[in-house]
Amino acid sequence: PRKIIIDTDPGQDDAVAILLALASPEEIEVLGLTAVAGNVPLPLTARNARIVCELAGRPEIRVFAGCDAPLKRKLVTAEHVHGKSGLDGPELSEPTIALEDQHAVGFIIETLRNEPAGTVTLCPLGPLTNIAKAFASAPDIVEKVQEIVLMGGAYFEVGNITPAAEFNIYVDPEAADIVFKSGAPIVVMPLDVTHKALVTSERNDAFRALGTPVGLAVAQMTDFFERFDKEKYGSNGAPLHDPCVTAYLLQPDLFSGRRINVEIETTSELTLGMTVADWWGVTDRPANATFIGDLDADGFFALLTERLARL
Ligand code: BDR
Ligand code: CA
Repeated sequence: PRKIIIDTDPGQDDAVAILLALASPEEIEVLGLTAVAGNVPLPLTARNARIVCELAGRPEIRVFAGCDAPLKRKLVTAEHVHGKSGLDGPELSEPTIALEDQHAVGFIIETLRNEPAGTVTLCPLGPLTNIAKAFASAPDIVEKVQEIVLMGGAYFEVGNITPAAEFNIYVDPEAADIVFKSGAPIVVMPLDVTHKALVTSERNDAFRALGTPVGLAVAQMTDFFERFDKEKYGSNGAPLHDPCVTAYLLQPDLFSGRRINVEIETTSELTLGMTVADWWGVTDRPANATFIGDLDADGFFALLTERLARL
């Protein structure tokens, strides 16, 4: 199986992304979850990550707490989308598993140094603070990364936290800039594709019909956080942003995109955190990322539902 570290700020959609990975042990080995401040402050994301491992029946998964604030800015959170806990919707009990003592950044560095080069994939589902801090303090690990498959940014769909920027990149643009300039191979799941992964009511019914605690929790989580997108975008259900990352690891042929240059806006107040994506190749800046633009939504939900049924 492919070894991954999931860097996350759960978040209902983060939770589903983690569940999909934990439901797929033949293809994916989760080396650890690293929590970062994002949708809600760090104590809550570190708590929620452990709740999700327990929900999946995988209490042995190690969870590390990372950075509690962006590199240079004050934390912006998204309770307006995810609720006060970050995982509002289902009734979930407090985690019983303990947080690891080691800092998430230390764990990321140590893992990349100890594992053979090119065998560890990073899966960031929140602001890129932990990853950037690891790269900045241990530049030797960058060339050891197999791939970074992340959720963040937007091109045609533009912003969800400001008119110009997607949340994960906006919260810590300096961190995103470090990661996009790092030279590591990057695959990006922007809003352009995640807004096509919509939990319609039929798809939600399919989660519920699994008749398991996981199926019910996923249905209730998506019920809760679809309200924001329904109001703002008139969208037909909640967009499962972060699960696109794990689905890509399992079935990359569900997705299509282009290798292009992506730069991060870090200075303009108006467009801070914008992913300036050269989709049409109008500059000669070298490609640094594969920017995904489309997915087979029915195939995605078939995969997700079939895997969740295994938990
Ligand atoms: C991203 O921001 C968070 O609210 C979600 O969990 C997702 O990672 C979408 O912009
Ligand atoms: Ca997230």
